[in-house]
Amino acid sequence: MNFDALNAIAKAMVAPGRGLLAADESTGTIKKRFDSIGVENTEANRQTYRDMLFTTEGFEQYTSGVILFEETLFQKSLAGQSFSDLLQSKGVIPGIKVDKGAQPLANAHEDETVTEGLDGLRARLEKYHAAGARFAKWRAVINITENAPSDYAIHVNAHALARYAALCQEAGIVPIVEPEVLMDGDHPIDVCEEITDLVLDAVFAELSAQDVYLEGMILKPNMVISGKKCPEQASVQEVAERTVKVLKRRVPAAVPGIAFLSGGQSDVDATAHLDAMNKIGNLPWTLTFSYGRALQAAALKAWGGKTEGLDKGRAAHLHRAKMNGLAAQGKWNKGLEKGA
Ligand code: 13P
Repeated sequence: MNFDALNAIAKAMVAPGRGLLAADESTGTIKKRFDSIGVENTEANRQTYRDMLFTTEGFEQYTSGVILFEETLFQKSLAGQSFSDLLQSKGVIPGIKVDKGAQPLANAHEDETVTEGLDGLRARLEKYHAAGARFAKWRAVINITENAPSDYAIHVNAHALARYAALCQEAGIVPIVEPEVLMDGDHPIDVCEEITDLVLDAVFAELSAQDVYLEGMILKPNMVISGKKCPEQASVQEVAERTVKVLKRRVPAAVPGIAFLSGGQSDVDATAHLDAMNKIGNLPWTLTFSYGRALQAAALKAWGGKTEGLDKGRAAHLHRAKMNGLAAQGKWNKGLEKGA
């Protein structure tokens, strides 16, 4: 295993002022996004939309890498170049979502899932590496409800994340380890803090048990945040302080970087939270973004599936990428949003 190469990729993924664009929606998930703007979910529309994102001039200043869905990794841009080559030509690292989604967990409450996709993963990783992918993503989903999560669900998801991470590193691919505690539900921020703490503890125990090289991975966690339907919503500063507190307890300093998911936060909230954490400063790892919805929602709407919307979509994408690039350095403020 080439430890130095893995460490160099991980560091490049969290280079100062840059983060990741999560554009790895499965065919089912992108359908939901397209439905919201009345666009049909065809391969041609998916190609046009992702072409718009990746041909946004200047987005590479703020974007170190893009997480792709398998179809996109092997797809061509509208100009006929592979998307993988197009991204690499801009100094953006192609990455790949390799999990096969969360499925109901046997012998558990119906609120609990386990993420599948380990069978045959070694062979798939080889194919993805040959296509230019240098990092991967696997998302475990932890739901907070009256009945969940159980220790059982936390443990099996952590185990699968570590198995995936070990296989990635063997293939020369940096694993993004993503244990997402969902923000759905009406639970207060205390509950999110407690569960996130338990989940990260279990994940790093498994990573250690399975000998995963911490310097060659990126953590993609949720922030510690109030449930979406909780009547009492924590302030930006509280989210930042509690998130940093849990991460400091559970994430070894050997991990080069932490790239958050946005998880359903508004665009500006996701940016403000990241900025507030970086303003705290003195952190052992780099904190940046790996946003899907919070980077794409405005661009998707501005595009609207229309040719005349493409430039507006690119402008919206560039703006959010820039705002998050600033937040990754603690240099954002609300006034900058007026440029939108
Ligand atoms: P969101 O930022 O929309 O949560 O998506 C990030 C992601 O990759 C989830 O797996």
